[in-house]
Amino acid sequence: MKILITGGAGFIGSHVARWFVENYPEYSIVNLDQLTYAGNLENVRDLEGRSNYRFEKGDIADLEFIRELFNKHDFDGVIHLAAESHVDRSITDPLIFVRTNVMGTGVLLQVAKEHWKDDFTGKKFYHVSTDEVYGSLELGGGFFTEETAYDPKSPYSASKAGSDHLVRAYGHTFGLPIVISNCSNNYGPYQFPEKLIPLFINNIVNNKPLPVYGEGINVRDWLYVVDHARAIDVIFHQGKLGETYNIGGHNEWRNIDLIKVLCRLTDEKLARAAGSSEQLITYVKDRAGHDLRYAIDASKLEQELGWKPSLQFEEGLGLTIDWYLKNKEWLQNVTSGTYRQYYENQYTKR
Ligand code: NAD
Ligand code: DAU
Repeated sequence: MKILITGGAGFIGSHVARWFVENYPEYSIVNLDQLTYAGNLENVRDLEGRSNYRFEKGDIADLEFIRELFNKHDFDGVIHLAAESHVDRSITDPLIFVRTNVMGTGVLLQVAKEHWKDDFTGKKFYHVSTDEVYGSLELGGGFFTEETAYDPKSPYSASKAGSDHLVRAYGHTFGLPIVISNCSNNYGPYQFPEKLIPLFINNIVNNKPLPVYGEGINVRDWLYVVDHARAIDVIFHQGKLGETYNIGGHNEWRNIDLIKVLCRLTDEKLARAAGSSEQLITYVKDRAGHDLRYAIDASKLEQELGWKPSLQFEEGLGLTIDWYLKNKEWLQNVTSGTYRQYYENQYTKR
């Protein structure tokens, strides 16, 4: 197969690209990424020069460019991850989320449909989406299933919901062979240090405050990124066309509890006195419209396609901390001046 992976220089996309390049030498993989602040070729440096891999720089919302790209490579499959992905940024700058996530997905769908000339044999369009489209759960109040009604609450999740709807509409109206997955919070190597876990590891290392939003009682359901890449492989190859699969690790944590584990493990690895990093915890103004709880019921994926997570949380967290401690240069390179400025303006102490 000739597969287009979009967003493959980002966090999850780089793991997906690596997984497919390493496990499917017979495929030809094209990684398309605009290299925004979140995309970094250092994330896929190890793939450079591999015979089944190629990088293309470009914008998914640029119709003519995407048409040329399909003509050049004649893709059979698309695994679409490129997006604006950070909820806080969607609150300060919503429109880029609409452009990239909604328009960009629309362009990819339209060009796939045109290029495949309505002959969809052997073709597949896979949209990688998020559990945030389902909205927010009460504490202890059930799980998101594939039947949960969409109820997105941030500009980010609304734009991802919009893109999911477009993907299903192309499936329903034109018969485009689509599949969608909605995954919970990922963590692991190469995650941009604006997201909770890498931001806090970075701040612990540098003895900077750990900005906990609100009371720290919001709950997220964490999955190691390589387990997400494995799930994408299984769904891409075995998922039923037209279906949606939820992906999650049954691993719910209140933010404040997770942060304390992160402090403990990092202190141990840095040989710091027990409890020293917890002193960096600083409660700050809550995120506007902060979703209280996400929790995924992944039983459809587990029962129908046989996937299950491979790592326990402390094991995955340990690997992640080790990676960030070893890759300080990567951290320095991705945290550019512009990014630092954005981040420093973000927090108002309560
Ligand atoms: P990320 O921000 O790390 O990476 C996104 C990538 O998309 C970057 O490399 C960026 O350069 C690229 N990109 C952005 N705009 C583009 C454009 N217009 N054209 C081409 N490339 C563009 O994001 P991530 O955390 O790796 O998320 C990847 C996908 O997975 C997203 O669709 C996100 O919604 C979804 N997702 C993420 C999580 C999570 O926990 N991070 C969970 C579930 C689903
Ligand atoms: O659920 C899947 C989603 O998970 C993905 O679709 C998004 O792309 C991804 O960014 C993530 O969204 P969250 O908003 O849950 O992730 P984030 O790491 O930004 O925040 C996790 C929790 O930690 C959330 O409750 C907000 C809180 N938080 C976050 C930051 C960055 C803090 O308390 N302080 C912080 O500095």
